[in-house]
Amino acid sequence: MTERIRLGVNIDHVATIRNARGGAHPDPERAAALATEAGADGITLHLREDRRHIRDGDLDRIRAATDLPINMEMAAAPDMLEIALRFKPETAMFVPEKRAELTTEGGLDAARGHNHLADYVRKLKDNGSRVSMFIEPDPVQLLAAHRMGADITEFHTGRYVELVQAGDAELAARELDRIRACAEEAVRIGVEPQAGHGLTYDTVQPVAAIGEITELNIGHFLVGEAVFVGLGEAVRKMRELIDDARKTPQP
Ligand code: PXP
Repeated sequence: MTERIRLGVNIDHVATIRNARGGAHPDPERAAALATEAGADGITLHLREDRRHIRDGDLDRIRAATDLPINMEMAAAPDMLEIALRFKPETAMFVPEKRAELTTEGGLDAARGHNHLADYVRKLKDNGSRVSMFIEPDPVQLLAAHRMGADITEFHTGRYVELVQAGDAELAARELDRIRACAEEAVRIGVEPQAGHGLTYDTVQPVAAIGEITELNIGHFLVGEAVFVGLGEAVRKMRELIDDARKTPQP
């Protein structure tokens, strides 16, 4: 059990709002600074192929706005590798990317992408970044990520959240069990387990209570809440909920 679970704040959707009108407001750089002040442990950003949110010019400005580690989500593509090698994020996270998707749908098929990914992993690690892979809570994918040298696997919590929100408590509990079992197995084989996607105030605690999980990455919900209460307040509340979940046994 890691005592304190880290909160990585994904600031992509601050840039989504900015890009809806062009111009410079709201600036993801300011969001990184506010999240830092409010108790985040890391800043996550996803430089997508279509640059729909974070753009190349944001990277160095966000780096200058925070002293927190940066987790850069990226597709396994040659131009992204080049950018990541230059930017040197503390963590480079491989995610699957499809142009038509609204958000990252499903985890990476680490088991299938072996030759391609292994080379990228080696280059990034040699360059000083830790490497993470965003995968479904599936032991086959976990083992494949491990074999390719991933330091971290982030387990996709999207299905769990959807099941809770659909009111299907039984299937949600089963999905949570899959996440828990994979987190335990990850620790056993020497991979750091993290989790994220779709998490909200109402769904975060059972995931945060899984003692093996070291970090949660949360974005869309926090940026949405920020519209009502401000980003600092949204991050502080999420921080409190995940800290409480670690201290209090969950039903
Ligand atoms: N983890 C990964 C790999 C993601 O792609 C995303 C979304 O960008 C998140 C976590 C955060 O998901 P959400 O924005 O739904 O909180």
